[in-house]
Amino acid sequence: MKEFDPIAYKQMVKEHQENDNPTAWFDSIYTDAQGDYKAVFWADLEPSPYLLKWLKENPNLSKQKKAIVVGCGVGDDAEALSNQGYEVIGFDISKEAINLCKNRYPNSKVNYQVADLFDYDKQWLENFDVVYECNTIQVLPGKYRIQARKAISNLVKPRGHALVSCRSRKKGEQEDDIPLPLDFDEINKFVSDDNLEEISFLAYNDTQVPSIPHFFAVYKRNEK
Ligand SMILES: C[S@@+](CC[C@H](N)C(=O)[O-])C[C@H]1O[C@@H](n2cnc3c(N)ncnc32)[C@H](O)[C@@H]1O
Repeated sequence: MKEFDPIAYKQMVKEHQENDNPTAWFDSIYTDAQGDYKAVFWADLEPSPYLLKWLKENPNLSKQKKAIVVGCGVGDDAEALSNQGYEVIGFDISKEAINLCKNRYPNSKVNYQVADLFDYDKQWLENFDVVYECNTIQVLPGKYRIQARKAISNLVKPRGHALVSCRSRKKGEQEDDIPLPLDFDEINKFVSDDNLEEISFLAYNDTQVPSIPHFFAVYKRNEK
């Protein structure tokens, strides 16, 4: 297993972004893990506690309902939704990420798939009761962030929910960071540009030392 070098990582991501090839590097992170899902440096190896809290508070939304997990990584959040009773698709642009999920959860009910948020099956449009996004937008640059947000919103069924979890920043700060956290104006475009309704919005600091600010937002698509 290759040791993670944060400086080399940021440089590698920056080069791909500058070459307008912003998704070509993701598979290398999973390939470097050499089959060990624990070696994926951004994986928490447990579901988001905020996702679990939302699931606990909304137990009746899951009956015969469909959920999709964007950029599902090593699968923790997809499994949490599946355990709650959702019929789940977990997709990722990285083939190796999907291999890790399948090997980690050989008996999973989750439908793990290699797919691209920017070019997914048209049948997915407005087809999901729950769309879960965690930390994908923040690893993309410029126009791809806008495309990603729209593609996420377009997955949500009428009366369905989008749950969005990400690092956060104050406007004007950390402008060159990798990952680039979302400021409030950017995440609020789920409401102002994509016509979703904000159901809840949490700004919090995580438990790392030093702690990192985050947003966890729940949006709903109202009936047309
Ligand atoms: C920072 S990781 C977060 C992974 C996981 N959601 C988590 O919270 O641990 C971003 C994930 O998005 C995936 N990804 C990036 N661009 C994507 C795209 N266009 N379509 C699908 N997945 C994508 C990457 O391969 C990676 O697994």
